Amino acid sequence: MAAKGRIKRIGILTGGGDCPGLNAVIRGVAKPAHDNGLSVLGILDGFEGLVTGKGIELYNKDVSGILASGGTILGSSNKGDPFHWPESTNGKTQIVDKSKEALRNYDAWGLDVLIAIGGDGTMAITNRLAEMGMNVVGVPKTIDNDLQATDLTFGHDSAVFVVSEALDRLHTTASSHHRVMVIEAMGRYAGWIALNGGIAGGADVILLPEIPFDWDAIYERVIQRNMRGKKFSIVCVAEGAKPKDGKMIVKKVDKKRTDPIQLGGIAEVVAKKISENTGLETRYTVLGHLQRGGSPTPYDRILSTKFGVTAIELALKKKFGRMAALKGNEVKNVKIEDAIANQKLVKPDDQAVRVAVAVGVSFGTKDL
Ligand code: F6P
Repeated sequence: MAAKGRIKRIGILTGGGDCPGLNAVIRGVAKPAHDNGLSVLGILDGFEGLVTGKGIELYNKDVSGILASGGTILGSSNKGDPFHWPESTNGKTQIVDKSKEALRNYDAWGLDVLIAIGGDGTMAITNRLAEMGMNVVGVPKTIDNDLQATDLTFGHDSAVFVVSEALDRLHTTASSHHRVMVIEAMGRYAGWIALNGGIAGGADVILLPEIPFDWDAIYERVIQRNMRGKKFSIVCVAEGAKPKDGKMIVKKVDKKRTDPIQLGGIAEVVAKKISENTGLETRYTVLGHLQRGGSPTPYDRILSTKFGVTAIELALKKKFGRMAALKGNEVKNVKIEDAIANQKLVKPDDQAVRVAVAVGVSFGTKDL
């Protein structure tokens, strides 16, 4: 498995949910790889392609002109975990281990290293494949920004841009109709998208998974605003937010996925409760996958390019088991296992939370 001599051939895949910037990373890896005389195999649909042997050669023409395009030219999947592979026989689905197939295909393709672009799930799988002897390098992706060991994941800035723009739009209609507008942001168990998007879009209330809320504190804030002459309010709620006496709202459980839990639905509940308890007219909007689609922001294009180039540099230097990571303004590298040890969650004393409180944002609690 260990690459003897010079690295000649790399495989690249995009795993988990897509996000803006994936193509910019692929380009950032492949262009310098070609310049260094390497061949590049694009593995299709994440780890699914590694297990089933689906890949395409990536030539310069394939990675040219993709910097600004959303999604991934390689396809992605959050159901292709080789260690948790759903296999159906006679109408019954059971979970089996297909990691040996993944290793067989890696060898059959003649790969010297696999560059895996993904979030915590992808990095955890990549780390297990490394333990089995595969040479790997990671690139941290996710709109959720919940990966440890990197100050930022690419995709997050683009998602925050979508939330911020949506809040701007909702402000005008909220103000015209004197309504409370509740917007639901993604982020799974981390509140980074709602927090940063909420600050950028001037939300009056931000609700996060990390800071369980009191219903009364929310009602109080919107009524207070009304009494002060601000006849509308904007509430930005993370999909994983929960009341102090309640649980996160699970939309669906899908055992075929590495993380079977799908969150969603809190905005509707919050809007209903506000309307019932304050008498104020309230509407809700779920932003959903709009946060993952479209062209990356300039910041994400730059970060993705830096990540991609760093990943190929790590591969050429045979620094396997490492992940590109942003530290301050520099992209460095860390052990993949350090990135997956814990989730990076919002701390209630985070500067962003303190700053938001200072400009009048309520987090639905009197504790801050
Ligand atoms: O991890 C990215 C993410 O968009 C989360 O914010 C969200 O909870 C989840 O993926 C949604 O997954 P799916 O696209 O499978 O519905």
